[in-house]
Amino acid sequence: MKDGIMTLNIPSVKLANGVEMPAIGLGTWPMDDVEASSAVSTAIGMGYRMVDTAENYRNEVGVGEGIRRSGVPRSEIFVTTKFNREWHSIQGVRAACEASLSRLKVDYVDLLLIHWPNPDQGGYVAAFEGLTRVLDAGLARSIGVSNFKPAHLQKLSDAGFEPHLNQIQLDPYHRRQDVVAIHQAKGIVTAAWSPLGRGNGLLTDPVIGAIAVSHDRTPAQVVLRWHAALGYVSVPKSSDPERQLQNLSIFDFDLSPSELDLLNSFEESNEEILDSDVVGH
Ligand code: A2P
Repeated sequence: MKDGIMTLNIPSVKLANGVEMPAIGLGTWPMDDVEASSAVSTAIGMGYRMVDTAENYRNEVGVGEGIRRSGVPRSEIFVTTKFNREWHSIQGVRAACEASLSRLKVDYVDLLLIHWPNPDQGGYVAAFEGLTRVLDAGLARSIGVSNFKPAHLQKLSDAGFEPHLNQIQLDPYHRRQDVVAIHQAKGIVTAAWSPLGRGNGLLTDPVIGAIAVSHDRTPAQVVLRWHAALGYVSVPKSSDPERQLQNLSIFDFDLSPSELDLLNSFEESNEEILDSDVVGH
């Protein structure tokens, strides 16, 4: 651990129940246990305080090991995990949560998410009720969803449930304005997976490149700064310590209003967005 790095100041985002989470964390898909253990302990050593995993990534054991290896107390790390479709029932969520806790070797998670709505199965409202129970039981400090589209959020709302957060595929080429508008109206925090665009050309975009050069930053830093400026939580994945540090070091520069306007003016395309009415696990 290098001196000075620990002073990186990571702002937090407040969830509707008052729980605060770091605005940026380490994504861990598609790391296996061995890779995750190493990447997580390195990342925490350089100042990361949030790690994002899922049952489906099959790396919760490695993530938990990485947290312990880092030597930083578990209470200082914000841990997010997600569960699969087979647990979409009130009791199922309790079982899914306990299984994740046992793989991670922790007593609670900070955020537990329904990974995909799987509307064909029709169980996500029951799953959310299950989430409220694990919240009440203290097994999760906050609860939410992932990959929910407006109709899925509406169905939860009709049943009287509002998630604390919805983690969706979002980047400057896919700003997801329809979903984000609902989040803002309902006080749901927006979190972005694949915040760097899943290799969609974002990092070689000339507009982003020019902004990066003018700040003496990388395109990835500009994109992550954009997420943070809009109040989004992001979880960029990197196994490379240099890129991990780069991705965390975005809070010591600002994008100007005109730069933000430029980044908010790419033509919106949903073509590369995974459709959660069809895709899910
Ligand atoms: P690597 O793990 O080799 O660093 P996303 O989270 O948007 O899906 O992006 C993850 C991908 O982007 C990974 O392939 C990761 O590769 C790469 N990546 C992560 N951080 C950076 C960065 N700062 N610059 C360039 N590529 C990055």
